Formats: sequence, structure tokens, C-alpha cells
Amino acid sequence: NTSVTSIKLVLLGEAAVGKSSIVLRFVSNDFAENKEPTIGAAFLTQRVTINEHTVKFEIWDTAGQERFASLAPMYYRNAQAALVVYDVTKPQSFIKARHWVKELHEQASKDIIIALVGNKIDVLQDGGERKVAKEEGEKLAEEKGLLFFETSAKTGENVNNVFLGIGEKIPLK
Ligand code: GTP
Ligand code: MG
Repeated sequence: NTSVTSIKLVLLGEAAVGKSSIVLRFVSNDFAENKEPTIGAAFLTQRVTINEHTVKFEIWDTAGQERFASLAPMYYRNAQAALVVYDVTKPQSFIKARHWVKELHEQASKDIIIALVGNKIDVLQDGGERKVAKEEGEKLAEEKGLLFFETSAKTGENVNNVFLGIGEKIPLK
């Protein structure tokens, strides 16, 4: 089977939650301790094989800083999938994630597939304090019909599963 299914995917979430780091882990299996904030948005692609189909992710990694907020609709408008990312140690970032889910349901494509992603779980093993319970994420995901994952871009834990989970929900040709 030589056909390739392209999936347009957008990442949304508060500044510094680790959107670009998740993409860097997925695309290059790498991590940077001092990743600079994204300006505007970045575009990257990655191919993976899912159920014997080649899937090409076309990834728009948006900037979380407030001054770029007005750009987001350009990137999510024709997206087939979205990752809404928060930081499990930052309650405010979970509140922001709720807002993104609401905005996507109001403004994005009706059949968009959304994954809610709680990132930075490695910090909990390192003595950092969890501020968003796993159950809170699960509950929001269940209420709103989202996929749900907790990840670490730093260790790579669960990062590929986010993209595989999205790929498995999109009809492959
Ligand atoms: P904006 O582009 O400003 O919206 O930020 P972002 O969401 O893309 O965050 P970015 O990936 O730039 O990461 C912000 C900081 O968090 C960087 O210093 C990363 O090294 C760090 N970081 C990202 N993911 C993780 C993670 O899973 N664990 C830990 N410990 N740090 C992380
Ligand atoms: Mg970024």
C-alpha cells in the first residue's frame, strides 16, 4: 500500500507548556532544556506507519504567548486534528486548555479530532508537585469527547502514543 494520508494537525496551549518540545520529541526524538518561545508558528512534518498505512503529519506548532493569540484561528481553521496542551504543574494552563477546547468546538471543523495532553509528568518524579489531577484531565476529556494523554517531552513518555491515537481515529486511505 503506497498511498499516503496527510493529517493537518495544530498544537494549542498556554506559553511554555511544552508544545514545541512535544513536536521536537516526535519529529527528531530530541529535547532541549532551554527551548526558545515560538514566534508566530512553526511548521514541521513527520511520517509514521499506522496499520500498514503511511500517515504524514503536517504540524502547525503555534505560539502560546498572548501577543500571538489572534493568529491561532488561521492555523486551526482547516486542521483535522488538534493537540490542546497544558502543564500538569500549572493550574492556569489547564484553565487555558478548557478555553481552547471550547473555542475549537465553536470555531474549528465539526469533525476535528482533539487530544488533551497534560505534559511535563517527569517533573513529578523529580520532586515537583502535581497541580492538575489526572482525573481532572480525564473528566474534561470524557465530557468533551477528547482523547487524553499525560506526557513528558523530556523523557519521551507517551509522546508517540498521542500521534498514534490521533492517526487511529482518522479514516486512512
Ligand atoms: P511557546 O512556544 O512560547 O508557546 O511555548 P511551548 O509550549 O512551545 O513550550 P516549549 O516547548 O518551548 O517548552 C518550554 C520550556 O519547558 C522549555 O524550557 C522546555 O525545555 C521545557 N519543557 C517542555 N516540555 C517539558 C517536559 O516534558 N518536561 C520538562 N521537565 N520540561 C519541559
Ligand atoms: Mg513553542
